[in-house]
Amino acid sequence: MNNFSKQICAWYQINKRDLPWRNTQDPYRIWLSEIILQQTRVAQGLSYYKRFVKEFPTVTNLARADSEKIMKLWQGLGYYSRARNLHQTAKYIVEHCHGRFPDSYQELKKLKGVGDYTAAAIASFAYNLPHAVIDGNVYRVLARIWGIDIPIDSAAGKKIFMEKAATLLDKKNPSLYNQAIMEFGALQCVPQNPACSHCIFKNRCVAFQTGIVNFLPVKQHKTIIKNYWYYYIVLKYKNKYFLKKRSSQSIWKGLYDFLLIESDKKITKKKLIETIKNKQLLNLSAKLVHVSDVYSHILTHRKINAVFYLFELPDIKNCPGNMVAQNWKKPPELAVPRLIEKYLTDIFAVL
Ligand code: ADE
Repeated sequence: MNNFSKQICAWYQINKRDLPWRNTQDPYRIWLSEIILQQTRVAQGLSYYKRFVKEFPTVTNLARADSEKIMKLWQGLGYYSRARNLHQTAKYIVEHCHGRFPDSYQELKKLKGVGDYTAAAIASFAYNLPHAVIDGNVYRVLARIWGIDIPIDSAAGKKIFMEKAATLLDKKNPSLYNQAIMEFGALQCVPQNPACSHCIFKNRCVAFQTGIVNFLPVKQHKTIIKNYWYYYIVLKYKNKYFLKKRSSQSIWKGLYDFLLIESDKKITKKKLIETIKNKQLLNLSAKLVHVSDVYSHILTHRKINAVFYLFELPDIKNCPGNMVAQNWKKPPELAVPRLIEKYLTDIFAVL
């Protein structure tokens, strides 16, 4: 074993967090944890993992589950395509693999939602196969200790980091080594203000020795965040309100929200009411009873500014047929984006 692997594995044995997916070699549970932890911090993902395992202890249970139930359990985690892929993949494994998880990197990669990182994670954690994981934590650790300043989001950069990671991998215990380097990135070599003076690699870390820790790793593309205005038309009739399933190819596909007017600009109340009339979205006798403050919701590529217009319907017949009634003052039974959940909690407190 090379010196770096030895040191990082020793560090891990002392500093690791006790996380449930580390105490199993069940590929189903490892896959589940890795899908949940994509784009999600451990602190947030942990409770979701526990609920999923409890509700669906095997891949067969998950495959047979109602998709609405899966979406509801996923509610609040974001990146909902992960939940849709999770269900599809579970069904695929039950129907085409006799309920047994693929046990090679190449076969794992054929699963929907499983890319290089996740395939390497499952291959090493479940089967102890020698595939090096490279996630954001690993990029950061390698870039800093070896002073690699080639952009991690370039093809050339990816190749260099892959080669470096493969060289360092402890082939005798890839599972332990992979967990160790990710944990080191998550706990010690953190993005902002790492405690370098307490780091076991401080004497050899190129970034620390040359004062460039905060400049590594390098990314060539900055994420551009676009501003959107979402005007929601919330319909209420007596003690019911109504949700609509999102069917468009959006990140919220499969979730429920309200009638929506989307714009890249702010719209005045007067203009909005005109638009509602022109588009004949509502019966004219519907009564506007409340306009919310602006709710800001930040996603990876967009900032959503949402305003909710609550209308009381004079008659249940005025409600569009494709909407599902829910009980007023009761949290929705269907999966809704976090933004909708927040609004409902607030409006239930005042009306
Ligand atoms: N993030 C992604 N995978 C992880 C794992 N197995 N342990 C801790 N954090 C992770």
